[in-house]
Amino acid sequence: MDDKKTLYSAIQPTNNLTIGNYVGAIKNWLNLQENYDCYFAIANMHAITVRQNPAELRQKTLALLALYIACGIDPQKCCLYVQSHVPAHAELCWVLNTFTYVGEMERMTQFKDKSARHAENVNMGLMDYPVLMAADILLYQAQFVPVGEDQRQHLEIARDIAQRFNNAYTPTFTVPEGLYMKVGAKINDLQDPAKKMSKSAENPNGSVFLSDDRDTIIRKFKRAVTDSGSEIRFDPENKPGVSNLLTIYSVFSGKTVPEAEAEFAGRGYGDFKLAVGEAVADKLQPVQREQEKILADREYLNAVLKSGAERAAHIAARTLGKVYKKIGFYQI
Ligand code: TRP
Repeated sequence: MDDKKTLYSAIQPTNNLTIGNYVGAIKNWLNLQENYDCYFAIANMHAITVRQNPAELRQKTLALLALYIACGIDPQKCCLYVQSHVPAHAELCWVLNTFTYVGEMERMTQFKDKSARHAENVNMGLMDYPVLMAADILLYQAQFVPVGEDQRQHLEIARDIAQRFNNAYTPTFTVPEGLYMKVGAKINDLQDPAKKMSKSAENPNGSVFLSDDRDTIIRKFKRAVTDSGSEIRFDPENKPGVSNLLTIYSVFSGKTVPEAEAEFAGRGYGDFKLAVGEAVADKLQPVQREQEKILADREYLNAVLKSGAERAAHIAARTLGKVYKKIGFYQI
C-alpha cells in the first residue's frame, strides 16, 4: 500500500450524474482503486459556490457516497470522504490564495461561463473555486488526478500554484498530473451528438441520468437522433449519432465496437436503439437497487464517512503543517 502512487479525484454532490459521468469518472476509478492509493471526495465546498437548497445538498451528499459504493468503489481500498469534514481544505486554500493572481482566476473559462449563468451571484467562492481544487489535490500529494477535459484548465492552475510555492520555498508539493479520459470513451448528447452529454443540457432527452428508470432510459434511446442512411457503422465524422450510440453500447455491453457493428449489420435503427437502451438499463438497474439499499443504512454510511475523514485529515494535516512552517506561521 505504501509504495503505491497517490491519486485524487472528487465530484460535486449537486446535479444528477449522467452515464457520461459514469463512463468518464466512476467506471475508471474502479480500475484505478486496485493500483493506486486513492482519495475520492465529495466536493460539497465547491458545490456551495452556486446557491444550494440545504436539505437537498445533505441528501445528495449521502446519495453520491452510496452511488460510489454501489458502483464498486470500495471504502476498504479507497479513502471516501466529504470535503467539509476535513478543515485543512479551507486552511490550505487560504494560503494558496496568496500565491494566486486575481487576473488568472478571472480568465478561467468555467468562471466566465458560470458568472454568465449566475449573474445574480458572482461570489468570491466562484472565483476561488480553482484554488480550493488545488488545495484538495495538493494536500494529499497526489501524483495523478483523473478528471474530464472540462477540468484541464483547473488542473493546469493547480500545477502552476504548486510550482510557484515550491519555487518560493523548497519542494513542498507534488506537482500533479491530469489523467484525461480516452476520447473513445466520451459520450455525447443523444439529441445533439456534436455536444458532450451534460448534467445540465437544455433538452433533458439528450442526457441519460444514472437515476433514470428503465422506461425513461429506453424512451430516451428510442428518441435519440441518428443520421441519414441506414447503416450502423462507426464513423464519428459522418455518422455522429450512430457512432455515439455504438460507443455507449460498447461500454455498457462490454463488447467492442466492431463486434457491435457486426451484431447490428443489416438491422434497422429502431432495433439498434432499443438494444442500446436495454444494455444501459440492464447495467444501471442493479446499481440503482444497490444504491437504494446502501442509502437506507445510515449507520454504515456514517461509519464510512467517519473513517474516511479521519484518514484524510491525518494526511492533510501533515502537508498543512509543512506549509505553515515554510511560510512562517509560529507553531505552538
Ligand atoms: N471541480 C471538479 C468537477 O466539477 C470536482 C473537484 C473538486 C475535483 N475538487 C477536485 C476534481 C479535485 C479533481 C480533483 O468536476
